[in-house]
Amino acid sequence: MSSETSNNRIRIFDTTLRDGEQAPGCSMTLREKIRVATALSGLNVDVIEAGFPAASPGDFESVKAIADANLGPIICGLARCNTADIEKVHAAVRGADQHRIHVFVATSAIHREHKLKMAKEEIIKSAVGAVQMARELVDDVEFSPEDASRTELSYLAEVVSAAIEAGATTVNIPDTVGYTVPAEFDQLFRYLKQHVAGIDDITLSVHCHNDLGMAVANSLAAAHAGARQIECTINGIGERAGNCSLEEVVMALRTRAEFFDLYTDIATERLYPASRLVSSITGMHVPRNKAIVGENAFAHEAGIHQHGMLQHASTYEIMRPADVGLSRSNLVLGKHSGRHAFRDRVKELGFDLDEFETNRVFQEFKKLADKKKDIFDGDIEAIIMNVDGTSAGPWILKSLAVQTTSDEPAQATVVLIGEDGGEISESASGDGPVAAAIQALAQVTGVRLALKNFELHSASMGEDAQGEVTVTVEQDGTSYRGTGTSVDIVEAGSRACLEVMNRLIRRQRRDVPGGANSDINRASI
Ligand code: KIV
Ligand code: ZN
Repeated sequence: MSSETSNNRIRIFDTTLRDGEQAPGCSMTLREKIRVATALSGLNVDVIEAGFPAASPGDFESVKAIADANLGPIICGLARCNTADIEKVHAAVRGADQHRIHVFVATSAIHREHKLKMAKEEIIKSAVGAVQMARELVDDVEFSPEDASRTELSYLAEVVSAAIEAGATTVNIPDTVGYTVPAEFDQLFRYLKQHVAGIDDITLSVHCHNDLGMAVANSLAAAHAGARQIECTINGIGERAGNCSLEEVVMALRTRAEFFDLYTDIATERLYPASRLVSSITGMHVPRNKAIVGENAFAHEAGIHQHGMLQHASTYEIMRPADVGLSRSNLVLGKHSGRHAFRDRVKELGFDLDEFETNRVFQEFKKLADKKKDIFDGDIEAIIMNVDGTSAGPWILKSLAVQTTSDEPAQATVVLIGEDGGEISESASGDGPVAAAIQALAQVTGVRLALKNFELHSASMGEDAQGEVTVTVEQDGTSYRGTGTSVDIVEAGSRACLEVMNRLIRRQRRDVPGGANSDINRASI
C-alpha cells in the first residue's frame, strides 16, 4: 500500500523551529534554522512548522527563507485567530510548493476566563472565522484548540466539529500543559472519533508537552486511539519541560510495530545526527541517559549485560545502534584520512556544506588531527559548529597564549585577525586564565561581556577529547549564547566569548534588534 493511501501511516509534524525554538535558551539564528530545516528534510518529516511569523520580523523572515528554500516537506506557520496573523503566515509560507496555515485558539475554561475573557460561543466564532479565512488563502489548514486536554469534552467536540465544517483539513489536539495521562487521552480521542461528524475525513493530530514526563506516552496513546499526525521536536526541546521527542516517538512506533500497527516515513538512521545538530546549535545538551540519542543509550556496563551482548545483541538491545545513525565505535578519521573520506563523513553526519565551507572545515580538521590522534563524530561536528560560529566575523581568533602561576593573576595574549586581514594582539591579566583571555579579547574587539553562565562538556571521547564550552551572556536585558570547541578549554571558552562579541558587533552595525537580517542568537524572547 502506498504511503499516501495507507491509514496506518503516522505523519510527523516537526515543531523544533517553532515550539522548540520558543523555549528559553533555544533561539536560533536564521542560518541555524535553515541548517535544522535541511536536517529535518533529510529525516523526511512530513511537516516543518517553521515559526510564528507574527511574533517578530525575524520570525517572519526565517519562516519565509525556509519556505522559499522549498526543501520538500510541507512548510507550516502558526497564527492566532486574527486577520493580520493569518496573512503574515500566508505571505511567509507561500514560497513552498506545499504549505500550511496553522491557526489556534484556547478553549479550556481556565484560558477562556483568565486569558481570553471570551465566552464559549465567541471562541467558536473566532475559530470558524479564522479557519474560513485561512481556507480562502490555502487548501491546507490546521486548527488547534489550545489546552484541549483541560477542555470540557462536549465543548471540545463542538469546537472541533465547527472547525471541520469551516474547512480545517487537520485538527490538532494539544495537551498544552502536559497534564493528561495515556489512558485519559486515549478516551478523549475515542470520544472525539465518536462524537464529531466528519472527523474521519480530516487528519487528526496530537501535540503533547512533557510537564509530567508523559509527552511521548500520551502521543502514542493518541495514535493508538486514531491520531494520524504526531507533533514533536528533536531532542524533545520546547516550552518548560519540552515537547514530545521526535526520536523517541518514531523509534517507539518502529520498535513496537507489532503492537501499534503504525509506521512513519522517517529515515531513522538520520536521528542521531539531527539530534547532535540541534543540541550543538541550541547549546541544550542531551542527557547521557536520554532514550535513543543519549550517550549511554546503547552502552552496556554491567558484566552480565556485556556477556549477554556478546552472545547475542538482542539479549539487551531492542534497537540496533545503526538504525538511529549511531555507529558503534564512533571512531571515524585520523591524521591520514583524506578529503574524500572526510567529506563523506560530514555528509553522513547530516551536514550539507558547500565547497568553501568544506575547505575551511577540512583545514581545521587537519589542524586538530595534528593535536589529537583519533577524531570522532563529535569532533567533526564541533569543528563545523566552530567554523560556522566564527565565519561571519568580524574577528577570527588566530592564537591564544596563557600563563598561570599559583598565587599570581593569570596572563593571556590573543592575536585576532580583522576583516581587512590585519592582525591585532593584546595582553591582559585576570583572576584565572579564562578571565584574562576574555579581557584580552575585549581590548581588541571593544566589547565587554557580562558572563552569566559558562558550561563545559566533552565533545567526543577519550582523554584528549575536545572541550565544548557554551557561554551565556547578559547584554542590555537580552541573553546571548556562544559555543566554542578546542582541546584546550581556555581556548574553547575564548572562542565561545568571541562568537558572542562578533554577534554583538554585527547587531550594532545593523541596528535592527531581532530584525529581518538579524543573526543574533537570543537566548530569550
Ligand atoms: O502547546 C500548544 O497548545 C501549542 C499550540 C499552539 C498547538 O503549541
Ligand atoms: Zn505546544
